[in-house]
Amino acid sequence: MKFQLSTIEAYNEAYALSLENPSLFWSTIAEHYVWQKKWDTVLEWNFDEPRVEWFKGAKLNITENCIDRHIAERGDQTALIWEPNDPQAAYKKFTYRQLLREVSIMANVLKSIGVQKGDRVCIYMPMIPELAFAVLACARIGAIHSVVFAGFSASSIADRINDSSCAFVITTDGMYRGAKQMPVKSVVDEAVVHCPSVQKIAVINHLNWPTDMQSGRDIWYHEAASHVADSCPAEPMDAEDPLFILYTSGSTGKPKGVVHTCGGYMVYAGYSFANVFQYRDKEVFWCTADIGWVTGHSYILYGPLLNGATTMMFEGIPTYPDAGRFWQVIDKHHVNVFYTAPTAIRSLMASGIDHVLPYNLHSLRVLGSVGEPINEEAWQWYHTHIGKERCPVVDTWWQTETGGIMISALAGITPLKPAHAGLPLPGIQPILVDAEGKEIVGNDVEGYLCIRHPWPSILRTTYGDHERCRINYFATYKQLYFTGDGARRDADGHYRIIGRVDDVINVSGHRFGTAEIENAINQNKAVIESAVVGYPHDIKGQGIYAYVILADHREASDAMRDAIIETLVEQIGRIAKPDKIQFVSGLPKTRSGKIMRRILRKVAEGEFQSLGDTTTLLDPLIVEEIKAGAL
Ligand code: WT7
Repeated sequence: MKFQLSTIEAYNEAYALSLENPSLFWSTIAEHYVWQKKWDTVLEWNFDEPRVEWFKGAKLNITENCIDRHIAERGDQTALIWEPNDPQAAYKKFTYRQLLREVSIMANVLKSIGVQKGDRVCIYMPMIPELAFAVLACARIGAIHSVVFAGFSASSIADRINDSSCAFVITTDGMYRGAKQMPVKSVVDEAVVHCPSVQKIAVINHLNWPTDMQSGRDIWYHEAASHVADSCPAEPMDAEDPLFILYTSGSTGKPKGVVHTCGGYMVYAGYSFANVFQYRDKEVFWCTADIGWVTGHSYILYGPLLNGATTMMFEGIPTYPDAGRFWQVIDKHHVNVFYTAPTAIRSLMASGIDHVLPYNLHSLRVLGSVGEPINEEAWQWYHTHIGKERCPVVDTWWQTETGGIMISALAGITPLKPAHAGLPLPGIQPILVDAEGKEIVGNDVEGYLCIRHPWPSILRTTYGDHERCRINYFATYKQLYFTGDGARRDADGHYRIIGRVDDVINVSGHRFGTAEIENAINQNKAVIESAVVGYPHDIKGQGIYAYVILADHREASDAMRDAIIETLVEQIGRIAKPDKIQFVSGLPKTRSGKIMRRILRKVAEGEFQSLGDTTTLLDPLIVEEIKAGAL
């Protein structure tokens, strides 16, 4: 069986084998990688505990598969293209040989400041090459990276550092965001005041920003780098040793640290990349996500590099200096495969075709979408104006917890349907269930989306709290992994993802728990209580709608609104700015004190007619007030 499937028959055959004998299927795929020692067992699992172990007994290092193994054949091929924020500034290219050197130097610097195998390292950085080096350097020495997106606040960084007791942080002096420059290291300084575990902070000089360095704790990366060797052996790792932690929001409590392990994650990231995008040798692949999210982990770094690809990293934003920036970069670097999010497509679509026309997009062969359902209009615009109707658009459904793409067309191989993710990848067994967990069989049906059998990159735990992992994903329906999404399976067996069915909202492809946002708002002293829901937003997919009760209702004002936004920016980060804040004197609660979110959702959606039964409310009149004040 081939690693890359190139016909529909090959897909059908692979899928059938993966159903019939998953262990045989995945061990055949795993043979395509370099292992220092092969596995004793392919898979041991049960979803009750849950316990999932792939390739037990095997030894490997993912960076040997991402870099070293390519040196002989493609040492001088570009591994990484870095396009800076400023289109006039020089871009950078790193060959596989240069990448090996940079990662080794970073790895040796980490060792020199005391990082050891198993240590957790927090990485809080903008999209510069050193971010890629830092991630891979951790993997090289067996340290567990925990990348925190640079749009999160000091308070969010502190929570994440403390949850996994990171002793080390890698960061930069500052960063660009479009025309703006912003501090980064000072945000980390503010965070680590609350982090007793942190011993050392390595700082990359990106902007020559005036930076306070605490002696004994903080080091400049460039100074340390000049004292270390430029080669570093790859640490032998057990297949089930953790590779990274990535925090993501759930329906309850604080964000949780999803844990992925070395062997299974490697096998799936590389396999899914090769097949979904049908990547061809020498092509330029560009995923516009930030490495702070799982999309960047799997499809800027690990997936492409495992396949010896040329992968691009972009420091900028889609609208700077103007809304043509993505298309200009595709033209400039002859990008062949382009992978972005519906929110970006919708916003660029709104800026008009004049931003697209000046650029030559002939290099494009495949387009991808990820992060939220792509509406038909955006799909068609992407297909017509960017892909010029020549390029398959793959709508890839997956999650931080799944590690890699689960349901998607394979470009040019399996049939495409606008706004449908399509068919599962080989090895993935989706199932739809009803509220009682009963399987919904047949086609043209709708239900809760679950997965039946483990795949190699399924999350193994949530850091420090295995019980939470069990309850969140494995306890809702017996013997199934529950995704939190609702889905439709159409007459042809293609899946269409409808959206979250839990209290998670997806704003511009960023995931938030409504409880998490409420807790943050409630930190503002003027606030007694709040309730947050998502509502349909033309560009962002969903917007954040907050109902807020103030201690003194007379204070309801624009200034108070700004103060609440400020609280959210401080507590979570600039990505959590609410779109609408409605001040209310009460919330619709049942007699047992439960907020009836259904009503709040309807009002936020502008649907005042079908509010359903409100007679069980403690105070039915409050609904009238809320309707009257709706934004
Ligand atoms: C949630 C996961 C790993 C992808 C980046 C986001 C939604 C993701 C799609 C898609 C419809 C999608 C789901 C999922 N989602 N991709 N192609 N179509 N919905 O990762 O932050 O872990 O969020 O994003 O609701 O559960 P994430």
